[in-house]
Amino acid sequence: MVDREHFDVFDRSGDIVKAISECVFLTTRSGEKVNTMAIEWGTIGNLWAKPVFIAFVRSSRFTRRMLDENPEFTVNIPTGPYDRKIFKVCGGKSGRDTDKVSEAGLTLTEGEKIGVPGIMQLPMTLECKVIYRQEQDVSLIPDDIKGRFYPHRSDRDHDTDEDDHVMYIGEIVSSYVLS
Ligand SMILES: Cc1cc2nc3c(=O)[nH]c(=O)nc-3n(C[C@H](O)[C@H](O)[C@H](O)COP(=O)(O)O)c2cc1C
Repeated sequence: MVDREHFDVFDRSGDIVKAISECVFLTTRSGEKVNTMAIEWGTIGNLWAKPVFIAFVRSSRFTRRMLDENPEFTVNIPTGPYDRKIFKVCGGKSGRDTDKVSEAGLTLTEGEKIGVPGIMQLPMTLECKVIYRQEQDVSLIPDDIKGRFYPHRSDRDHDTDEDDHVMYIGEIVSSYVLS
């Protein structure tokens, strides 16, 4: 049986922000398809009197398509060492042509308040419902950041780490640690 130890997200905000900078995961679901990607850009905070998680997902990601089809996600945060295969598969392959759940050996648990599952191997879980999204206007970004992160080379296709981000703001509707 799965146990969920609930916590107040602002009591653990320091741990969460530190974990983001080291790499956490974002899981989406559309129909029967579940997909997880590695993220290290994002933050938590307080907006419109709600606790929120803000994620930056490049337009080319399969995850972007999943979020547009079903605007819910879980953030999956490791609480100790975990199988590096999860990092390699979820940060290096696309759900467009890979079943990352099976290839990375992820054990899914049902969501509590949303349809997107949590992941036993990445137990700290934030369940989020998208309440706002915005495509970036790269022209407003300082040149040094633009040159480094948005070079927009036309000789590349998708998954280039060069295209614009979409910012997704998810209301955190539940937060817990799985065991
Ligand atoms: C450590 C790490 C952090 C990453 N952070 C982000 C991120 O914040 N936003 C993003 O769009 N891609 C990020 N990526 C890239 C995606 O995880 C990668 O392109 C993934 O294959 C996309 O999967 P998808 O096509 O199934 O959505 C990161 C990759 C790694 C390895």
